[in-house]
Amino acid sequence: MAPALLVSEPQTNAEQEWQKDKLQSGDFKEAFQQGASTTDYEVELKGTGRFAPAKYPHYLPYWDATIKYPPLEPFEHTEHGLDADPSFSNLLSGGQFKDLTGNIGAEVTGIQLSKLSNAGKDELARFVAEKKVVAFRAQDFADLPIQEALDFAEYYGPSHIHPASGAPKGFPGVHLVHRSASDTTVYDFFQERTNSVTWHSDVSYEIQPPGTTFLYVLDGPLAGGDTLFANLAVAYQRLSPAFRERLHGLQAVHSGHEQAEAALARGSIVRRAPVSNVHPLVRTHPITGEKALYVNPQFTRRIVGFKKEESDYLLKFLYDHIALGADFHARVKWEPGTVVVWDNRVTSHTAILDWKDGYRRHLARLTPRAEKPYETPFEGAK
Ligand SMILES: [Fe+2]
Repeated sequence: MAPALLVSEPQTNAEQEWQKDKLQSGDFKEAFQQGASTTDYEVELKGTGRFAPAKYPHYLPYWDATIKYPPLEPFEHTEHGLDADPSFSNLLSGGQFKDLTGNIGAEVTGIQLSKLSNAGKDELARFVAEKKVVAFRAQDFADLPIQEALDFAEYYGPSHIHPASGAPKGFPGVHLVHRSASDTTVYDFFQERTNSVTWHSDVSYEIQPPGTTFLYVLDGPLAGGDTLFANLAVAYQRLSPAFRERLHGLQAVHSGHEQAEAALARGSIVRRAPVSNVHPLVRTHPITGEKALYVNPQFTRRIVGFKKEESDYLLKFLYDHIALGADFHARVKWEPGTVVVWDNRVTSHTAILDWKDGYRRHLARLTPRAEKPYETPFEGAK
């Protein structure tokens, strides 16, 4: 007699299981899926019985698939931080700062970024390059006309136009991070993933990625939704001299293709053709002269000249080194009026998807582009 069939439950749908990972090819991981289908304008404009309307409705993302943008133009970057007074007398006049940790981050109160002179703006670039990430409290940025906020950021370089973002109507240079009130996709995400951590430097696949970068909160949960930053200059210095020497001269491919493919796969837009570019694995900061690791699992794909297994092995070590280095991390908490400024050249960051009350999270990023990454000669052990 033939044995009884052991499995009486419905069979797992292998095709569906396969599709789950196909949409997140390589190491690219989407914890914060955004698109027209996830922006609930009814809830955002009118509110619900539980949640108020969006505080800044003119900053809601719009997704127009009919508008296409051309490739970004190369330009000569001017590094204003090189002109800065290292005592920060213009930037910090009348204000105070305190360090967030021993290795990265500061918090500044008592100054208004929007009122800075050009000398103060130069010092801002240098201060942020030294601290890596700085939270400026009680700012009026969100209340400025959007064009004024963009003009402020464009002092540092031309705005990046994100290939796959929604933007406030008429302002494609503003990148939005937005989760509608009552959005419960967080629960869906954790059905398939154990954490929401996605370490990255913003849009490192561009040939001239951003430098001094601004993110300000418009609306957010009372607790949670923090942003975690890592100091990649300390991460580099923590490696042995022999290991640093091996990294010297290596280059890696950074790709925006997976991000664009994922956007299309969930029915969202791609408004500029995705690109990939090759950057040094270790880059030198133009103001401080510090070297920093420049790899991230979201966008770095392959070390040039290495075989795939060799490349995967070394990149995984570097990703783990950065992710595990809690002694060179800072967790930045958002408060109403907070503007966080970081130097995208020497940091990695990740959002944290941990609030469960369905509260709206809405932030705007201003993303001036900077120089093409470069590495100066190896100087030996320091
Ligand atoms: Fe980011």
